[in-house]
Amino acid sequence: MRFGSFSYWLKDGLDKGYAVAQININNLEFVQAIIEAAEEERAPVILGASEGALKYMGLDYAVAIAQTAAERSSVPVMLHLDHGPNLDWVLKAIRAGFSSVMIDASRLPLEENIALTKQVVDLCHSLDIEVEAELGRITGTDDDLTIDERMATLCRPEDAERFVGETHVDALAAAIGSAHGHYKGKPQLDFNRLSAIRKATGIPLVLHGGSGIPDDDVREAIGLGIAKMNINTDNQEVFTEKVREVLQENPKLYDPRKYLGPGREAIKAMVKKKLALTGSVNRV
Ligand code: G3H
Ligand code: ZN
Repeated sequence: MRFGSFSYWLKDGLDKGYAVAQININNLEFVQAIIEAAEEERAPVILGASEGALKYMGLDYAVAIAQTAAERSSVPVMLHLDHGPNLDWVLKAIRAGFSSVMIDASRLPLEENIALTKQVVDLCHSLDIEVEAELGRITGTDDDLTIDERMATLCRPEDAERFVGETHVDALAAAIGSAHGHYKGKPQLDFNRLSAIRKATGIPLVLHGGSGIPDDDVREAIGLGIAKMNINTDNQEVFTEKVREVLQENPKLYDPRKYLGPGREAIKAMVKKKLALTGSVNRV
């Protein structure tokens, strides 16, 4: 199977009341764990790759691994550029073979975010590539970028309506109070804002910072129009904890397979939990 269709599966999620999980990849073990979990749970899944992960893995290695995974997989697999910072990265990703992209121009003033996003959408749609964009600024740490609370802004429904109308973007990551990385205190999602943005835009919405949000809040957000949820930190954490545990218990260990293998199993178990939480089990 080649890569699945980003908008087909997000629309399926919206229609049926579940969210497609975007699980970020960091190395080969992540990809293997995600695909095994998705196949066992019969779930469509999006492999998300950020600029930092692509610099670490190598763009061509990352695409080759994801393509092999998608071809061998019996469930739909998409490869999505996560938080593409500029046109240059979008072009690199498209040329390398990504099936969809995110342009994140949320650091720019609204007018400039609209202009850059529209440029990316026009280019991508001419190539049948679908686009996610970000409006408002999501707080927390993603890759090497930290947005502290003073820099974060929530998405305004009236801006979202204008943004979607002018850019024709396919999915919107609207900042509604979720955060990348670890939460300081209990996450406070603004559900009224989410409903208003959903009404104002009518397109699938994306919840970033999916690690650490209480399960009930995730379910409520999905009920209000979240059709894709992004998860990275929870998997990084269980992988590293397992590797650390194995190495501490076996200080003489030197074969990487003996600690990466258990790390991979820990990711797989976490991904299965997330697929259940997003309601994407048995959708294929
Ligand atoms: O774009 C990636 C995500 O928003 C991941 O967030 O690391 O907090 O799960 P997370
Ligand atoms: Zn994100």
